[in-house]
Amino acid sequence: MIGIYLSGTGNTKYCVTKLVKLIDASADVVPLEDEFIIDKIKRNETVILGYPTQFSNAPYMVRDFIQMHASLWKGRKMICVATMGAFSGDGSGCAARLLKKYGAVILGGVHIKMPDSICDSKMLKKSAEENEKIIRKADEKLKEAAERIRQGDYPAEGLTIFAHIAGLFGQRLWFYKKTAGYTDQLKINQDCVGCGKCAKICPMKNITMENGRPHPGSKCTMCYRCICNCPQKAITLLGSKVILQYKFEDSSNLTKM
Ligand SMILES: Cc1cc2nc3c(=O)[nH]c(=O)nc-3n(C[C@H](O)[C@H](O)[C@H](O)COP(=O)(O)O)c2cc1C
Ligand code: SF4
Ligand code: SF4
Repeated sequence: MIGIYLSGTGNTKYCVTKLVKLIDASADVVPLEDEFIIDKIKRNETVILGYPTQFSNAPYMVRDFIQMHASLWKGRKMICVATMGAFSGDGSGCAARLLKKYGAVILGGVHIKMPDSICDSKMLKKSAEENEKIIRKADEKLKEAAERIRQGDYPAEGLTIFAHIAGLFGQRLWFYKKTAGYTDQLKINQDCVGCGKCAKICPMKNITMENGRPHPGSKCTMCYRCICNCPQKAITLLGSKVILQYKFEDSSNLTKM
């Protein structure tokens, strides 16, 4: 077994790592941008794929990764894990349907509610205490999911036709344009000091440094990693001002919101 994930602000990394390690402590867990990921996947029969839900969809980078490596999935046993701030309907189903199209065997789907990663919209803010409660609940759910998976009683969250309808009508249809491809809407304001951190950490290599200034391109997968890590809070995407950054590295190192 191997765990693979896209994670902008750490939630999905945490959830996939915890789930995989509870099932098999010796299994590898790697991000989608790992340079040897294809070889690592090839060596494993079962793959747990995790990603953050975006407008009740899988991030474009994840869908692109599945399509670009279509031949990898034939016969491979997959469990899809979607993390989310509130609701996704069929978050796990979005990748599962695509993987199935390429011949994967879908074993299960897991939905984990985590703190919201969008940090430039006031509407979505929660207190640090609320976020800690959400993470404690997620820990419980991950334990239950791991136990079920170990026993071969796979959770099927997000995989039913009802979940599909909920995801479609709950959000995906209305926000389809936002997740139809990569975006070129990243904005960097005058507070930028040219430290280069954003360029270094972007999983899409979407930001390049030219003459000491960052230049965003048109391949942003809206993961919010650069936005939540910029020391100057100079980057925005959906909103126009960073309220309070969010990043989650492990449960004892939660950045307070
Ligand atoms: C662009 C964008 C869209 C999002 N859309 C949804 C959504 O439709 N439903 C939801 O519950 N959470 C949504 N979220 C919240 C994330 O799915 C959630 O915070 C996730 O756990 C972040 O994972 P990460 O830290 O691994 O990136 C969205 C986040 C972003 C950045
Ligand atoms: S991380 Fe922020 S301050 Fe540093 S180069 Fe990027 S935008 Fe500028
Ligand atoms: S530009 Fe920022 S938000 Fe977009 S993919 Fe890169 S790190 Fe994520």
